[in-house]
This record gives sequence, C-alpha cells and structure tokens, in this order.
Amino acid sequence: MLNIFSKIFTAFFAVYVFGTTAVPIFPPSRMYLILLSCLLNCADSIYYVGVGRADCTGPPTEVNLMGFAEITQIACGLHLRQFVRAFVVNDGTTSMIFVNIDAHSTSDGVRQEVLVRLNRLYNGTYNEQNVIISSTHTHSTPGGHHKYFLYDISVKGFSQQYFDYLVDAITKAITKAHNAITESRIFLNVGVVPNANINRSPAAYLMNPEAERSRYRYNVDKEITQLKFVRVSDDKPIGTINWFAVHPNTMNSTNCLVSSDNLGYASVLLESHFNGDVLTKEGFVGAFASTNIGDVSPNTKGPICVDTGNKCDFVTSTCDGDAATCIASGPGKNMFESTRIIAERIYNKSLALLQNGGTELSGPVRSIHQYIDMTKAKVEVLSNGTKKLVRGCSPAMGYNFAAGTTDGPGISSAAQGTGSKNFLLTIGRDLLSVPTKDDVKCHHPKKILINSGKATFPYEWQPKVVPTQVATIGFFVVVAVPGEFTTMSGRRMREAVRQVVGKSDTKVVVSGLANVYTSYVATPDEYQLQRYEAASTIYGPYTLDIYINQYKKLVSKMMNNETVDSGPRPAKFPPVLVSLVEPPSFDGSGLRKFGECLKQPRSKVSKGDTVVTKFVSGNPRHNPLHGDTFFVVEVKVGDGWTVVATDANWETRLYWERTNVVTRQSESTIEWMVGEKVQEGEYRIRWKGHYKTVLAQIEYYEGGTRSFIVQ
Ligand SMILES: *[C@@H]1O[C@H](CO)[C@@H](O)[C@H](O)[C@H]1NC(C)=O
Ligand SMILES: *[C@@H]1O[C@H](CO)[C@@H](O)[C@H](O)[C@H]1NC(C)=O
Ligand SMILES: *[C@@H]1O[C@H](CO)[C@@H](O)[C@H](O)[C@H]1NC(C)=O
Ligand SMILES: *[C@@H]1O[C@H](CO)[C@@H](O)[C@H](O)[C@H]1NC(C)=O
Ligand SMILES: *[C@@H]1O[C@H](CO)[C@@H](O)[C@H](O)[C@H]1NC(C)=O
Repeated sequence: MLNIFSKIFTAFFAVYVFGTTAVPIFPPSRMYLILLSCLLNCADSIYYVGVGRADCTGPPTEVNLMGFAEITQIACGLHLRQFVRAFVVNDGTTSMIFVNIDAHSTSDGVRQEVLVRLNRLYNGTYNEQNVIISSTHTHSTPGGHHKYFLYDISVKGFSQQYFDYLVDAITKAITKAHNAITESRIFLNVGVVPNANINRSPAAYLMNPEAERSRYRYNVDKEITQLKFVRVSDDKPIGTINWFAVHPNTMNSTNCLVSSDNLGYASVLLESHFNGDVLTKEGFVGAFASTNIGDVSPNTKGPICVDTGNKCDFVTSTCDGDAATCIASGPGKNMFESTRIIAERIYNKSLALLQNGGTELSGPVRSIHQYIDMTKAKVEVLSNGTKKLVRGCSPAMGYNFAAGTTDGPGISSAAQGTGSKNFLLTIGRDLLSVPTKDDVKCHHPKKILINSGKATFPYEWQPKVVPTQVATIGFFVVVAVPGEFTTMSGRRMREAVRQVVGKSDTKVVVSGLANVYTSYVATPDEYQLQRYEAASTIYGPYTLDIYINQYKKLVSKMMNNETVDSGPRPAKFPPVLVSLVEPPSFDGSGLRKFGECLKQPRSKVSKGDTVVTKFVSGNPRHNPLHGDTFFVVEVKVGDGWTVVATDANWETRLYWERTNVVTRQSESTIEWMVGEKVQEGEYRIRWKGHYKTVLAQIEYYEGGTRSFIVQ
C-alpha cells in the first residue's frame, strides 16, 4: 500500500489532469467524490472500470463467412448475433482499454480508424498505446475488413460495409464503457476446464523438446484465467474477461448461419444469467477472449477417416494420402449440439469462478506499444549449442496451408507434413511471385506456396509491420499478440515475460489475435514438421523468437517507466480496394406483400417441438438491425404481449433463401425451439426487415403469425 501522502498527491494530480482537459474523463463533481473516497478508503486496489457492449452483426446473407477459406460457405441467415465487448480500466491516473469482438480476427485498419474516432471523442486519453482490440476467432462470421489482400480475398475482397460495422460498434462499446466508469475492485481467478479442447497437431507438439514437454500435463492449456470487475457501491460484478484456449470453429465449414460459435455462446449464457434477456438488457458484460489457440481444437472426439472409420495418419492427418476425409468432430451429435456443449463447459467454469472470491489486483495500470517490421527484425538464438543471429522472413504461406486442418480440411491432394507438395499449386504460385533463393532459404523447411511478402499487386498481401503491445493492471499482465500462437508458443511467451517482470505473484496472459491478423506462430521445433500451423507461420522459423525478444523488451521498458518510439508505420492502402462482393440487388415480392406469412405455425405445439414459420422477405443484408432483432417470439400476458426470444437467442434461427433469381423473390424461415422451461400459454412471432425497390430505395416492412398455443 502506498502511503497516504502519495495517495493524496495522486488524487490531486488526477483532478488536475482530468479537470483541465476539455473532455474530462470524469465530470468534475464525480472527480471530487473519487478524491473523497480515496482519502477515506485509500487502497491501492481501487480502480475505475466501465464496461460496454455493442452489436456488430455482419451482413447475414450472400457474403462469404471467414475462417475455413471455403468459397462455397456463404451466409444464409443468423443464429447468434455478433457483439463487441469493451472494458475501460483506470487506476486514478492511467487508463487502458480491452476490447473483444465476436469476429474471425481484428484488423489494423479497423483499429486505426477506431483510434481516430477515440481521439476525436477523448482527445488522446485512449490511444495506440493503451487500446487493445482482440477477437474471438469465430469461423462463422463475415470478413473483408483487413485490407491486406490475402485475408480479404478469401471472402471475395474488401467489404466497406463490414469494416464500418466493426468501427462503429467498437467505438460505441468503448463510449458506453467510458460513460459507465465506476469505482471498482478487480479479482483474478484461475480454474480448469477439463474437456473442452484438444491439440489438433499433436505430432507437431511432440517436436518440442522432451524436457520442456515433461513440465506440462497436457498438450493444450486447460486453464481458464478470469478477471472479475466488482462495483464498489453495491459489491456486484459488472463484468468479466476470461482467456481460455480453444478455436471457435465448432460450427464447421458446412454452416451458413452467422454465429459467434462456442465462445460467443458462452458470453450469451453468462450475460443472460446476470441480465435476463441477452439482447434487450445490457448491464453485466462478459467477454470470452482468445489466447494461444493456434493448435487447439474444440473437436474433442478427435479426427477419424470419415469414410472408413479408421484412424488418420498421425503426422499428415490424411486417410490413404487424402486430407479431405480426415475430419474431427465435437462432443455432440451435430455441430449445433457440440457448440452448445463446449460453450456450456466453458461458461459453467466461468460462472463458478465468478462466485469465488479470487485474488484482488492492486497496483498501477500501464501499457506500451510499438510497431515492428518483422521482415527486418533480428534475434540471437541458440542453435545446436552455438549462438547465431537470425532474422524474420518476408511473409509466405507454405504448401500445407492448402491442406487445412482436421477442423476444416482444405484441398484433398495437399497434406500436412514436410513431405507433401503439389505441382499444380506450384504453377499458380509462380504466376504471383517466384520465391528467390533467399526466400527459400529463409523459410526452410517450409515449401513456399504463396510468396505473399513479395506480391504487391494489387497492394500488400500480408502485414510486414505489426503492432506489439503489453498492458498491466497491477501484477496482471496482458501480452497482446497479433496472431494465433500455438500452445507451446504461448507457454514460452508467458514464461519469458514473467521472468522479465520477476515477481512471484505476476500472472501473464497471452491475448491472441489482437490488433492485426498475421496467421499463426508455431515454435521453431514445431516449424520443422510443417503442419498447417507451421506452414502458416508467415515470418519463418524464428517468428516466435523475434516476438519473445520484442515483448521482453517492451515489458522491461514498461517496468522501468521508459517509453519506446512508435516504430515504423504500417502499410498504406489505396483509397479503393478490390471487392468482388456484389451489392445486394432489388427485392421482389411477386403478387404478395413483403412480410406476408407463407407458413403459419401449427396451432398447438409442445415443449421440445420446433415452431417453424415462413414469410415473404426482403434481403436481410440491407440492414442487419444492430441493437434490434429481425423477429420476436412473444407470449400473451394479460392484455399485452411480452418478448420471450429474439434473433440473438440460441433457441432461434433465421434462414433466408432467394426463391426466384429473376423476380428476386425471397423467403425467410424462422425456427424457434420450444425449451422445457417455456411456460404454457398463447404465443405469436412478429418480424420486420427491409427490402430494396427497383429504384434502389430501402423500405421497411413487418408482419407476423397468428397466435398459437404452447401446451
Ligand atoms: C488535447 O490535449 C492536448 C495535450 O494533452 C492539449 O494541449 C489540448 O489543449 C487538448 N485539446 C482540447 C481540445 O482539449
Ligand atoms: C460438419 O458437421 C456436420 C454435423 O453437424 C457433419 O455432418 C459434417 O460432416 C461436418 N463437416 C465437416 C467438414 O466437418
Ligand atoms: C453446466 O452446469 C449445469 C448446472 O450445474 C449442468 O446442468 C450442465 O449439465 C452443465 N453443462 C455442461 C456441459 O457441463
Ligand atoms: C548439430 O551439430 C552436430 C555436431 O556438431 C552436427 O552433426 C549436426 O549436423 C548439427 N545439426 C544442425 C541442425 O546443424
Ligand atoms: C515507475 O513509476 C511508478 C509509479 O510512478 C513507481 O512506483 C516506480 O517505482 C517506478 N519504477 C521505476 C523502475 O522507476
């Protein structure tokens, strides 16, 4: 605990700083209250915390979903909405922001635009140094927000629409969090979720030294690390952030509904527990964030050869040389049930930890940030007992990137492991950029499939300059990394950072997929086997060592209250980016009216049934109704109707289908699974949306079913 004089000084300093900026972080009256309470209750452990959430649901139809690079995986509706969850933490003088998005990945372009807006709103209070934006990595949401060509082209190019949705929602969630700042205490809890993840490249994991592996019980991290924010005024939890290693790709490449997948649904469960309805009632905000998930799958049954039932080849994940039939599955009967089970397991643990006390955080909030050019970075490593200076390579993807993983196999003739190559792919590669001798040597033993770092047409394909960032709240350290670290990569990073901090109570988390996306980071040992994760480690074998060196430097500077220069600037992009996504066409309704019901629910249904209804629809892509819903399921209460479910609920699904490509007619189908807890009574479903006229006018429509009985 600091002595009382330094506290008073800190408090006056805070009043001085915040009181004299044009946009004070707290209104002055509030500031005096804080000062007063600090004088009375001057603990190191009082923070000022705000939480906020905003809807960022992407266009739910016609656009590609990002993650499996499956060109036929096109959005056809909505299962779970996407949200941005934001947390502002201030220690009385210094702030940091942590944002988690239900999205495949974060982009530097989105972050820079958010920072411009935050600067306008808060005059530098929130900036490059102290704002971390990470994403869950769900594989069932749109993309096109990266600008970097390779990442956007997998979903038919840049999408200004989705880019804007993300920027708007992140800014909104942060603004809500800022406006909700309240005196809080922060607690740390750690638990174990035993059966929600497995390693999907165990052969690569085994490449790590035996002495290192023997220190860990599992080949994935089963720990969940959770921060709990508790409001001082009533001792109630206002939010939580946890980090648990799992790919949110239980919804596989055959899914066409926009979904936040297992981690998103875990958030929905937790927020519903505290707030009641997930869509309309905000308050408690629960983020399930990403960490070292690179080689971690939710498909706990593991892979098998789906045609024969045999085991896949351990090293290459193929069946008779074919990668396409070696597929892993989750604990449930199908992907929906598996998503629910994985989500419940993580949510159950999170809730149990929230009900624990936990270790209280104390000490300052700090952050540090630097862009680095990975292609120029050098690091000294021990190789075969002698020190040598190595460097990062110009970005490239290896052959086995094309093989995909057992969570979503790629091209069947490609296979994981160093032995594989495919000459047709080589021809395609050389049209783009022929790797130089130097590229080949640098990436060895990776065989280069896409020499992305040297491709400049139409613009940059993958990042060369990447953001690196660390933030601390007392003894809790968040290492924000720009990619998917494998299990062992994450462990090495955490240990290296902990050693630099040097205090025994230090807790380090790796916050994955933060600020920009750069694919994977495997250890140099795993790199030798060139499975998917290693083939997608884009700066070559020493990518991890370069990062560890950089983050050690950042942490050490931060601990010494030193600053670093902001580093080289990231890539610039032309004002118009390649987009092959066609804008939505006009809609037709034939001889009917938009919103007209085409299929009424059965007049009587029972618990356990699924209610199905269908209506004449416009294209939901015109407007995803952020903060709202395409439909409500309502129960009659007295003379009025009360909402029991929206499109953000697990129990509901919205499917959209273009039924006539000439007249542009389409239909939407709503499904509502009547749960065991649903009360008996009279129900109805109402919907709304927008359609586009032939004159490109966007018009509103609504409709509904007749009422039906749940008995
Ligand atoms: C914004 O902050 C800067 C420095 O922190 C200060 O000089 C400037 O006056 C502030 N601008 C406004 C509009 O308050
Ligand atoms: C996806 O999951 C469904 C079950 O929901 C299963 O039938 C299908 O084979 C899976 N496909 C892949 C590629 O994993
Ligand atoms: C989660 O906890 C609830 C209540 O304790 C229990 O009914 C449910 O089976 C648990 N779910 C899973 C997947 O473990
Ligand atoms: C390591 O050193 C040994 C003995 O000097 C040598 O035989 C071996 O080839 C070296 N390995 C590598 C990867 O350089
Ligand atoms: C850094 O600053 C903090 C707070 O101002 C102070 O407590 C700490 O001693 C400083 N550390 C070093 C190494 O100067």
